[in-house]
Amino acid sequence: MISNLYDKFVLPKLLDVCCSTKPINYQRNKIVPNAKGDILEVGIGSGLNIPYYDPKKINKIIGLDPSEELNEMAKENAAKSDINIDILIAGAEEIPLPSNSIDTVLITYTLCTIPNLADSLKEIKRVMKNDAEMIFCEHGIAPDLRIQNWQNKINPLWGKLFGGCNINRDIPKILVNSEFKIQTLEQMYLPSTPKIVGYNYWGLAKI
Ligand SMILES: C[S@@+](CC[C@H](N)C(=O)[O-])C[C@H]1O[C@@H](n2cnc3c(N)ncnc32)[C@H](O)[C@@H]1O
Repeated sequence: MISNLYDKFVLPKLLDVCCSTKPINYQRNKIVPNAKGDILEVGIGSGLNIPYYDPKKINKIIGLDPSEELNEMAKENAAKSDINIDILIAGAEEIPLPSNSIDTVLITYTLCTIPNLADSLKEIKRVMKNDAEMIFCEHGIAPDLRIQNWQNKINPLWGKLFGGCNINRDIPKILVNSEFKIQTLEQMYLPSTPKIVGYNYWGLAKI
């Protein structure tokens, strides 16, 4: 009961605020403008990437998220944009799109949260055209052992507070294990961000 109320009334706003920091928005600006064609944004959340897309490069955006509350917030942000954007309630495990139909998948700060990553990444690959790109920016396991130890200790509690988010996932390894071909990869601790949540991986992967 309390956890339902938390998920409905607190978590969506908490995610919106925590994902809107200046360093995170700086990351969005590095990658989102590269998206082109027919775009699938997986885990669109409250739609924080929408202002960073380059409308000139885009045919259409389909944004998926399983959270009803975040869907509503994303729709409000989509309404402020001139881009053709559809927001759907769905998880990455079952994407309601035809195979081989997407030019760019954008995924930001969501691989940390998707519970069934292997099936979800398989499903993402299914909808990507052969030459499609997946643009990603995620936080994950830090390179320093001391930070890793803290990440592993805090992860169970963190997940309870932040909708199932994991702070210790090895993002490049997850992509490679799912047979994505990583084309570019950059990584660093975000400035002004606690190190346990601030180690970012971003780049481009193909199938
Ligand atoms: C930290 S938020 C990030 C939201 C957004 N991508 C951003 O960059 O602001 C994590 C998002 O993952 C979504 N999510 C959780 N489970 C998911 C799933 N199975 N498939 C797709 N998205 C999921 C959550 O609803 C939430 O919107």
